[in-house]
Amino acid sequence: MTTWLLVAHIAVLGYWLGAELVINSTYRYVCYSVEDPFEARDRLMDHVMHVDQHVRYALVLQATLGTLLAMQLGYLPGGTSAQAWVILLGGGWLALVELVHRRRARPVGERLARADRMLRALLIALLIAFAAGLFEAGAYLPGWFRWKLTAFAGVMACGVAIRLVLLRHFATWREMATNGASPVLDREVQRLYWRATGVLLLLWGLIALMTFLSVAKPA
Ligand code: HEM
Repeated sequence: MTTWLLVAHIAVLGYWLGAELVINSTYRYVCYSVEDPFEARDRLMDHVMHVDQHVRYALVLQATLGTLLAMQLGYLPGGTSAQAWVILLGGGWLALVELVHRRRARPVGERLARADRMLRALLIALLIAFAAGLFEAGAYLPGWFRWKLTAFAGVMACGVAIRLVLLRHFATWREMATNGASPVLDREVQRLYWRATGVLLLLWGLIALMTFLSVAKPA
């Protein structure tokens, strides 16, 4: 069972990075295809947001699979019922991610997205407190695992930062839908693309660091 969890944990890493690459290159295409009619770019942008779901699933899956692995390998306390809770909470989080996406065009979507961002902020704070040894269960974790959890908090923070950039992208996008595209609005959309890509590069750096820590287990 532990071996299969590890296989799934590593497979999700590939799934995550593959989805990120597709999203980023399609997002760039949308921002730079200034000669295309806005309707065509808008349809493709909608597709970007569908594909974007995959990185959101991947984050939740890594958190769930990683926690289960940590329990099975004895890094964290937790028997069968604690592991069942982890699966249940992971499933609930996945359902929330899906709901936020499906309701994004309705007024309730805004509130759900805010709740999701707040949940992530809370998890980031908890992860850092845990990695710092403030909870008893985390006090005996090896150093590499603490750094890995801190880097994971950084990955989550980068995800939230990208969403905040995307909120500004969509405000400009709506302006384009109302008044038509213009060189000024296109430049703004491209500027935001580079800002999101800068954060994404940091996120990839943190994922590379987590992979290194997991394989090398330096301390
Ligand atoms: C972006 C997120 C993550 C990445 C890229 C990642 C990457 C990896 C990789 C590549 C391995 C395999 C190491 C090996 O077999 O040599 C691994 C193992 C592991 N990961 Fe993760 N991981 C992530 C998130 C997490 C999280 C959030 C946790 C816990 C909460 C976690 C817990 C573990 C555990 C316990 C192992 C097994 C370590 C061992 O073999 O002793 N991972 N991870």
